[in-house]
This record gives sequence, C-alpha cells and structure tokens, in this order.
Amino acid sequence: MYKLFYIFSILLLINNGLIANNPNSTKRTFPKNLNETKPVEAETGRNAQKFFKAENMIETGVYYYPEAWKPEQWERDIKNISELGFEFIHMGEFAWAMIEPEEGKYDFSWLDKAVGLAAKYNLKVIMCTPTPTPPVWLTKKYPEVLIVLETGERAQHGTREHYSWSSMKYRELTAEIVTKMAEHYGNDKRIWGWQIDNEPSHYGIVDYSDAAKVRFIEWLKAKYETIENLNRAWGTAFWSGVYSSFDQIEIPSKLKQITDVASQHSMLDYKRFSADECASYISLQNKVLHQYITKDQFVTTNFMHHHTEVNPWLNNDLDFISYTMYPISGRYAGIGDQGFRLGEPTRISFANDFFRPLKGVTGVMELQPGQINWAPFNPQLYPGVVRAWLWNCYAGGLSFACTYRYRQPLYGCEQYHYGIVGTDGVTLSSGGEEYKQFMAEIKQLRKLYQPDTQCPSDYSARKTAFLFNLDNLWDTEMQKQTLQWDFKKHMNKLYSSVKSLCVPIDFIPETVDFSAYKVMIAPAYQLLDKQLVAKWKTYVENGGNLVLTCRTGQKDRDGHFFEAKWAAYVSELIGAEIPMFDHMPVDQFAKVSFDGKQYEWNNWGDIMEPTANTSVWATYTDQFYAGKAAVVHHQIGKGSVTYIGCDTDNGLLEKEVLKKVYSSAGLAYQELPEGINMHWRDGFWVAINYSSNVVKLEIPANAQIFFGSKELKPAGVVVWK
Ligand code: GAL
Repeated sequence: MYKLFYIFSILLLINNGLIANNPNSTKRTFPKNLNETKPVEAETGRNAQKFFKAENMIETGVYYYPEAWKPEQWERDIKNISELGFEFIHMGEFAWAMIEPEEGKYDFSWLDKAVGLAAKYNLKVIMCTPTPTPPVWLTKKYPEVLIVLETGERAQHGTREHYSWSSMKYRELTAEIVTKMAEHYGNDKRIWGWQIDNEPSHYGIVDYSDAAKVRFIEWLKAKYETIENLNRAWGTAFWSGVYSSFDQIEIPSKLKQITDVASQHSMLDYKRFSADECASYISLQNKVLHQYITKDQFVTTNFMHHHTEVNPWLNNDLDFISYTMYPISGRYAGIGDQGFRLGEPTRISFANDFFRPLKGVTGVMELQPGQINWAPFNPQLYPGVVRAWLWNCYAGGLSFACTYRYRQPLYGCEQYHYGIVGTDGVTLSSGGEEYKQFMAEIKQLRKLYQPDTQCPSDYSARKTAFLFNLDNLWDTEMQKQTLQWDFKKHMNKLYSSVKSLCVPIDFIPETVDFSAYKVMIAPAYQLLDKQLVAKWKTYVENGGNLVLTCRTGQKDRDGHFFEAKWAAYVSELIGAEIPMFDHMPVDQFAKVSFDGKQYEWNNWGDIMEPTANTSVWATYTDQFYAGKAAVVHHQIGKGSVTYIGCDTDNGLLEKEVLKKVYSSAGLAYQELPEGINMHWRDGFWVAINYSSNVVKLEIPANAQIFFGSKELKPAGVVVWK
C-alpha cells in the first residue's frame, strides 16, 4: 500500500513538471507574459561595470564549439586556448540540437565536460542560449515557428535566425530551453555571463507570417486605439486606402503592391513593430534567465551596428549590449591601395561609440581573426591589422574582445573561415599570432594601470554627441528622393570627420540629458516634434553647439509634412528659412563656397534664406539659386546652431564646417593625418594607422612610448603616455 502511494505521488509530481530534471518530462512549466510587445525596463538596475575589473582593462576570449570536434581533442584545444593567453571562452549559441536532441530530453553531459575543462584551464565561460538554430524535431513538429518570406514561402530548416519573433509557440519553446539552461548553469561560478541568441536581426529578412500579422495588429491597436486614428496617421485618404477595422490590415509589402506602397507611414510602423518584436523576444529570454542566474552573471546579446532593422537600444534591460565586427569583407575600400585589407578607419570606433554609451560598458563578441568566407571576395588581411583592431577595441573603451572562432571548421558553409588555428587544429594562423601578441602586450600594460587617472581636459571638453533615432534612417531611406541618398553614408561622413579631429564621441538617444556635451550632431533629423526642438533650444541657450544637417525637421513623428512653411519647426532655431531643396544628376556637380574655397556637391542641397542675426557660412555659387545660403550659423544664448544644408560626396565641406564649429566654440581639436585613429584611455594614448602609407605622428618629445614608434607603418600601432 505504501509502495503504491509512493509511486502515485512521484507520478503526480512528474506530471506537474515539478521534478525539473527528469529528462523524460515533456511537461511545459513555463512561462507567463510571452506576449509582451515591449522590452521590460531593467528590474535589477545592475551596474554593468561590476562584471569587469577596471584594472584588467580589456579581457580577450574566443569561440569554441565542442559539439563540432572529437571529444578527445577538447582538452588539447582548451589547454592551448588558455596557454595562448585567452581569458574566456564562448560556447553554445548553435547547440540546441545537442542540448535537447529530442523534445523534452536534455543532455548537458557533453557541455558540462567542456565547461569543466574551461575551468580547469582558468577560462571563464560565456554561455549562450541556442535559439538561433532550432533543432529539426522542433521545426518539423511546429513549422509555424518559422518566418514567412515576402513571397509567401515559409523558411526552411537548416539555417539560422529563421524563426519568427512573433510566434507564441517559439516564444514558449524558447522560454523552456532557456529555463533548462539557466537551471543548469545559472548558479555555476564557472559561467561568467550569458549571451542571448546570436546577432538577432533576421539578417534583414522581413517576417510575413500570420503570427507577425496578428501581433502587428495588436501593436497597432495598442498604439492607435481607434481605426480612425490609424487612418489619419497612415494617410489612408490617399489612394482610397481607408480601413474600417483593424482586422483588414496586412503587413505592407512592396512586392505585392503595384508601383509603390501607398502609405510609407504603414511601412514605418511595421519597421518600428519589428524592432519592438526583436527586443521583446530578447527581453523574454533575459527575464527567464534572471529567474535563475546569480547576481554575478551578466546577460548580453551581440548586435551588428549596420543591421538597422533592429534597434539594440531598446534592450536597455540587458546588462549591456555587445557587438560583432568583420572589418574586411571585400566591401570597404579603406584608404589607399591596401585599404581593402586594413578596413575603414572608423568602422570599429563607430561600433564602440554606438554601443558603449547605453550602459557605459560594451565589448566586441566576435572580431574577425582572418580571411572569411561570406563576402563578395575574401582577401587576406594586411599583416598586423588584427592586432591593430584589437588595440582599437581597447582604445575605444571596450571591456572585452572575443574572436570568432578558435578552429577553422572542416565542413559546413563557413569552412573557408579562418580561426585562431588552421585546419590541423593546432597551427596558429597569422590572426592567431596577432591575438597572442596583443594579449601579451595588454598584460604588460596592466602592470602600469593606475586607477583614477584623469582624462586630459581638452580631450574630454570636446566630447561630442551624435543624436540618433532609427526613424530618421528608416524614413529617409523609404523616400530617398534621390538615388544618391544614403543615410548611413551621410552619418559616417560626419562621424569620420569628427573622429579625424581626435574627438571622443557618444551616440545618444533623445531621452538623455544633452548638457554633458559641448557639441551635438543630429544628422538628417527628418522626423521631430515641438518637444525635441524645445529641448534643442534649451541645450543651445545653455551653451551647447548643435549641428543639424540636410532634411532636418521636414516631418512629424508619423512622417507627415507639417501644415506650415517648409521646415517651419526648425526655422527659428537655425535662423533661416528653407524654401526648397535640390539634387543634381549623378555625373554633374554644382558648387558651394565656404571660407573662400569652392566645394563640389550633387547629393542634396537645402537652399536657405537667413533671417536676422544669422551668419551665412557657405553659399551656393552656381545654379539658378546662386548666392543662397548652404550653411548657416546662428548664435542663441550661450551656444550656437549650425545647419549644414549641403551633402557632398567626399565630406570635405562638412569637415571644414565642423572644424569651424569647434574653433568658434573655443574647443581645441587635433587634426590627424588621413587614416590615423587616435584615442585616450586609462592614461594611455593609442594611435592606429589604417592608411596604406607610412605616417609620421607628432608625439610629444617627452612621451614614454610603450609599444610601436612615431613612424607608423600600415596597421601600425603606437601606445604612449
Ligand atoms: C557572424 C556570426 C557568426 C559567424 C560569423 C562568420 O556574423 O555571428 O556565427 O557566422 O559571422 O563570419
């Protein structure tokens, strides 16, 4: 009788999912709130810096996939990783099929062994949730979790990031696998922190699944409340697009609409919705993890700054955001004939400055170690450049740098991708040698670390903010008006100009306090409202120097024009009216004059008429509007507003204008030779040469040089104090 009662009780517990580690239990114990559409604010208010010791300056790690290598090689590999100088190891982001080989059957034994070896060789572990790659049993049983392409076809098993952020089933399955992982490793001191998913983005593919449609409609209902409000915002009186109920709405598709999507406002909303979906999906995982993990484990994910379908800043709930970086992928010319092997001089800096300000902490989760496989062509890297990038990461304030990957794979679509070691599993690649060198150098520099080192005051005084809102990128890209319009190029030009003046930069959203920055640049800020203009005005009155560029203030937040004169909302602020704008043909250039020099332009020209007290800094010198203003400067209170109405190809005009902004504001800058990237951190100056030429740098005669010399070869680095 007792025996029977005992068996019955056990069965009851199993059935209720209360015996969590029963490998045969298919009972789903999770979750609540799967359907949240917005990421939740950080509940913990954790200070991200606490996960990193300032005196370690930057820690270096590597990706390892135990599941892909013979178990008898793991110890050799992990030991070698440690002996090379790596300090942490990264695992698990694509291992769902091995962790849960059958639905509800979990196998952590192999991963435990790998974690154990990492600990044995003093490597901290970044554990990842394996959600980018659902196993085949899952996609066969629940095909509805896969995204649907714009053509109407469902994605196929066998790739990654092909699941729908909107699928409730996938959210449920995600919550379950993350629960299991967090139960298993959340209290494990060997685990340093967690990476959620991998490069959340769908790599630019838009989800047209029913799940996405249902959630989009819910999102719209929450935003607009009534269909009349939606009709107004989407401008559906145009081309008879009026809706009488939310249920009639579909995901807007360019492919399915003749000539054009009637309402780009609907597309703007879908982009906003999609970014929210990604963020809330990541946030769901964060919440699950936080039910189990200790306060000593961090949670992050790795975004890509140029994949602008998603908005990393929405995931403010994570401890910090990290990023992935492949500077050489056959797409970037760089500077000089070897530029394609060195990378764009500001690519890494841009990512550093984009991700770091959100939490004051960031790291690069994947940094290219060598030749890759997925670019239009895959050149060898310039000797020394991997080490140079690592120094760029350190100099830009990163807390860690991790490389993808340790071993070059012997099979799979990335088999041509270099690792730290080559196909034999033991011989260092040139990138591997450079990692080894960098790790040794940093360990030497750590010995000189002094806490509380003061940043040079002229350097910190010129710290500049870039105000960024994805709405402006999305909206201007949807209505380019000229095939030459490219928001990212426009922003990069300004960013590179500022960086070439040796200026520290933070990317910031509208919500933060602007007063920490003497200069703020808001590129092509097309969508705005009265509140933002008022915030800008206060900022300027109190001594801020605001730089606005073409297209700013054309539209409200729904993307409508204002029922007022063109750019009326910013006219008073910039001290000018903008009666019209112009573009030139691709092969024909017009002229603009600034401080006695002529510049050529053909992308975009805002034609301006100054009002009282406005200085005209640059003037159009040809076309029928010759004599009209192209750049104006307006003093208000203790500060100024500079409006650069003209977008040039080479950015030379913009750079000269920016120099004048800094000098007029009494801010010192240092003009660096082309391709030189220079930063201050922890009391050290670091300069990197991204150009194809040898560059002689002016370094004070009494400087103490730790690595490199004043004469910088391509990919050369010099570190001094
Ligand atoms: C990254 C990705 C990695 C790997 C790598 C190859 O974008 O996150 O998983 O595919 O590219 O370069």
